[in-house]
Amino acid sequence: MNKKIALLPGDGIGPEVTDSAVKVITTVAESFNMSLEFKEALIGGASFEKYDSPLTDETLQTCYNSDAVFLGAVGGPKWESLPHHLKPEAALLKLRKELGLFANIRPAKIYNALINSSTLKKEVLEGTDFIVLRELTGGIYFGQPRGFDKDRGWNTMEYSYGEVERIARMAFKLAAERRNKITSVDKANVLEVSQFWRNIVHEVHKDFPEVELNNMYVDNAAMQIVRNPKQFDVLLTSNLFGDILSDIAGMITGSLGMLPSASIGNKYALYEPVHGSAPDIAGQGKSNPLAAISSAAMMFNYSFHMSKASELMEESIERTLAAGYRTPDISSEGSILVSTEQMTTCVIENFNEIFNEQALGVFTL
Ligand code: IPM
Ligand code: MG
Repeated sequence: MNKKIALLPGDGIGPEVTDSAVKVITTVAESFNMSLEFKEALIGGASFEKYDSPLTDETLQTCYNSDAVFLGAVGGPKWESLPHHLKPEAALLKLRKELGLFANIRPAKIYNALINSSTLKKEVLEGTDFIVLRELTGGIYFGQPRGFDKDRGWNTMEYSYGEVERIARMAFKLAAERRNKITSVDKANVLEVSQFWRNIVHEVHKDFPEVELNNMYVDNAAMQIVRNPKQFDVLLTSNLFGDILSDIAGMITGSLGMLPSASIGNKYALYEPVHGSAPDIAGQGKSNPLAAISSAAMMFNYSFHMSKASELMEESIERTLAAGYRTPDISSEGSILVSTEQMTTCVIENFNEIFNEQALGVFTL
């Protein structure tokens, strides 16, 4: 099997966590006898510096020619005052739209070894395992008209039938492979677009009667995530609500530095850590590579259909944490403080160890 990966390291800590992910990806690919081709391209501020544009046609082309896109992070104070369409964030939004990445999967799963590093109580967290499925190419992020003048600012929250239907269908399919439960988040008590969303989700539900469907207002959902996160399996949300709720869900894992994501469309897919570019710690070896590595694990699962490889990668992360290794963002008393590079090496060593154990297991059976 040969796969092409477009690598977009981006800004801030983006390049260093991408580098970590590439090292792990390469190890995994070798173990599973697959060949990979990486093609690197600029995005965000790094691209703006060179081409006066945060996303060039050339970078887009590299993505179109890939089996999967891996992105580090974009943004930084240097480009904050640029007009909207030149900001690094605009590159990300355009990429999502151009590649048709309508579904964003953000798992909120607690790693056992980190249960004490969250600001939430252990009893609240134990057993938490849900995913936020966020619609990614519609809603208020893209609705027209939009703009502002001297007296007013405006955006439009808008969804078409087809946009809601396809994300709802994906939610039901995902739930059917998990614990058969969907919580669809909206603000149907106030917003017409939410009532529309709710109606369509109920329509789609008829095709998946075995899945339990609940509706929840977004304000209540925000509260329920920190009150009792165990109640959720698949949280289905629109673009803006998912943006907000996935950051809240991020704190369940103890640090945003732990949260991976996959953005999936009919033809393309992009994997990126949920965290930002953290310019304050860039280049100091302090960044946590685990969200990037975990995003790579999602890539093996969703794009390469190698669920075994993906599981082993997750297990390698779990084992590394269990051994006490921590980057500064997740460090606590008694843990072993390590750099980005050391953390990456640990994950790779654990992967090799687990892989060999499993291989031996197979042969001795
Ligand atoms: C995210 C980010 C982006 C978003 C920004 C950087 C445009 O917050 O991926 O959650 O709002 O979608
Ligand atoms: Mg966000």
